[in-house]
Amino acid sequence: MIDQGTITRIQDAAQIMDIVSDFVTLRRRGVNWVGLCPFHDDRTPSFYVSPSKNICKCFACGEGGTPIHFVMKHEQLSYYEALKYVARKYGIEVVEKEFTDEEKQAQSDRESMFILNEYARDYFVKTLHKHPEGKAVGLSYFRERGFRDDIVKKFQLGYSCEQRDAFSVEAQKAGFRKEFLLKTGLSTGGEHNQPLVDRFRGRVIFPVHTLSGKVVAFGGRILKKAENVGKYVNSPESEIYSKSNELYGIYFAKNAIVKQDKSFLVEGYTDVICMHQAGIENVVASSGTALTHGQIRMIHRFSENITLLYDGDAAGIKAALRGIDLLLEDGMNVKVVLLPEGEDPDSFAKKQNAEDFHRYIAEHEVDFIRFKTQLLLNEVGDDPIKRAGLISNVVESIALIPNSITRSVYIQDCSRMLNIQEQVLIAEINKKRVKHLERKKEQSDKEKERSEKQSQPAPIFGTSQVSPHVISENPFDKYELEILRYVVRYGNAPIYQKFEKQKKKVGREVIEEDVLVEEGMGVTEFVHFDLGRDHISFSNELYRQIFEEAVEHIDDPNFEASRFFLSHPDPQVSKLASELISDRYQLSKIHSKILGEEMDDKNSRLLERNRLNSYVPRATTELKNFYVLQKIKEVKDAMKSGDQNDYVTLINQLQQLQEMKKVLAKELGERIVLKYFN
Ligand code: CTP
Ligand code: MN
Repeated sequence: MIDQGTITRIQDAAQIMDIVSDFVTLRRRGVNWVGLCPFHDDRTPSFYVSPSKNICKCFACGEGGTPIHFVMKHEQLSYYEALKYVARKYGIEVVEKEFTDEEKQAQSDRESMFILNEYARDYFVKTLHKHPEGKAVGLSYFRERGFRDDIVKKFQLGYSCEQRDAFSVEAQKAGFRKEFLLKTGLSTGGEHNQPLVDRFRGRVIFPVHTLSGKVVAFGGRILKKAENVGKYVNSPESEIYSKSNELYGIYFAKNAIVKQDKSFLVEGYTDVICMHQAGIENVVASSGTALTHGQIRMIHRFSENITLLYDGDAAGIKAALRGIDLLLEDGMNVKVVLLPEGEDPDSFAKKQNAEDFHRYIAEHEVDFIRFKTQLLLNEVGDDPIKRAGLISNVVESIALIPNSITRSVYIQDCSRMLNIQEQVLIAEINKKRVKHLERKKEQSDKEKERSEKQSQPAPIFGTSQVSPHVISENPFDKYELEILRYVVRYGNAPIYQKFEKQKKKVGREVIEEDVLVEEGMGVTEFVHFDLGRDHISFSNELYRQIFEEAVEHIDDPNFEASRFFLSHPDPQVSKLASELISDRYQLSKIHSKILGEEMDDKNSRLLERNRLNSYVPRATTELKNFYVLQKIKEVKDAMKSGDQNDYVTLINQLQQLQEMKKVLAKELGERIVLKYFN
């Protein structure tokens, strides 16, 4: 548990730009910054960061919020974990209260797994440097391979002893539960009360870090050549580890990727490490498998330029051709460097100094499409049938490139290399593109169908992450939310102000000046008063809680509602506040419709501010109106089914309600007129 004072300090320190730009490359756009959204498959920047409001939001998928929300969502952390993350970043000391047993229990499995992995990483590092076996076997292995000690430390490499259960026993002594040892895959076995066995025993350890440096998995490399056991053993997939979404080395590479606007992709753990040692830090590894969409998205956010480094033998070249289509499709600029036959970046980097390695890369880097064309060209020679296949193959790759300018550059190039007219290539490419788009559409239709099917029976125990108002069963929510929007945005700001021009003498001159002569009540106060007199309160629990807090501050002249709710300790509250505050785009559309004019953001906000006097009462009236309509329906239903004794009462009620409906309709009608002509 973190005390409230510290929470406030953390929230005040957290700057949205600092937090987001650790994960997303941002470019300035007006007063905001934009980048590719990390939460959905974004190809044009739709993720907005507003430094002045200290919030972020994706205008395509809707994700975003305060700095804390961003960290929660991006790093899949709980609220408290996210606070601690931000505190670490800003060097704020967090004094935690002891957890009670209940609180401990409530910690999610994910968190427990992360904590255990951290413990394991430290244990393996300690074993490597302090344990006699670790030093004699593990550390000397790394040294023989030429890994410098500072690099071994930086990548947190470790060692797990030969003994079957050294780690499992130690971890259990330290209080870690068997359940999590198995879930993280650090231990295996344990059925029928058998003892646990260390998965990585007798191996050197490579921890796998997330973008933010948390350990999600381990790779263990065997030291002796042994039959029937894999060279590497890796952590299994788990709640915290999905192999296809992590890239080895990204944590250590991200800054360098941004700085150099380029990343290198290699195959293995040791390649990443040796390139760092040679001074090339913008490097990540796909860990021996083909790249996935998720991995590409992760690097693409930092740079759209990627260079693949491969062994120049047949297998290496094949590997270079594999998985590249996905990169092209994502709009990345792909280059290839083939190393001399039989070398991987690890072995190659060791044979020369850093400078020569850099030079080799610079001299041998070729554009992927050209590389592929040339390669196939050499292969097919003059055989006309094979040539047709080759053309179709190259065309297939070009057709994937989303940017039409880039595409046309390649078409020109290939036309020259293949000695084929551009027009012919263009026609072929267009055919493929159509097919490609159709396939895409089919896929997304299928996905849509699937998700619709899944969402049909409403879950009885909702554990949805979506804010309650997004999928809402309650028909009142819509109206209540609209009111709440004004409360959160404007709080105690007066609902109207009246100015008069007054003449005033300044020295010898007389000037005209606007003077405030009248001021209405605050927005919150008005809503409180207006709903109160009809005994209406918010039916949505969360909205009511927010509103009540706003009401508590009605008399506080320094109360800034938006700031207060944005930094609210309850993440549900601050999340909703950030959405209510950032939805202005939608709003300006409504305004421009009413007024028949296009408006920029600032104007639309000013306008809203000046018209609270008509907008806020309209919002409360709309809620009342809806109440009356609901009530009428109820009474009518009761009349149909109820017994005769109540009939008279019901008739009376209905009449009253119909009267109210008329009054409200008139008010709403008038307000609409006001909106149009005011
Ligand atoms: N890999 C794996 N499991 C294996 C073999 C390989 O997970 N059984 C992954 C590892 O991430 C490895 C990468 O594929 O780093 C590349 O494999 P390889 O080139 O064989 O290993 P190197 O990293 O080159 O390791 P070393 O130089 O120590 O042989
Ligand atoms: Mn190797």
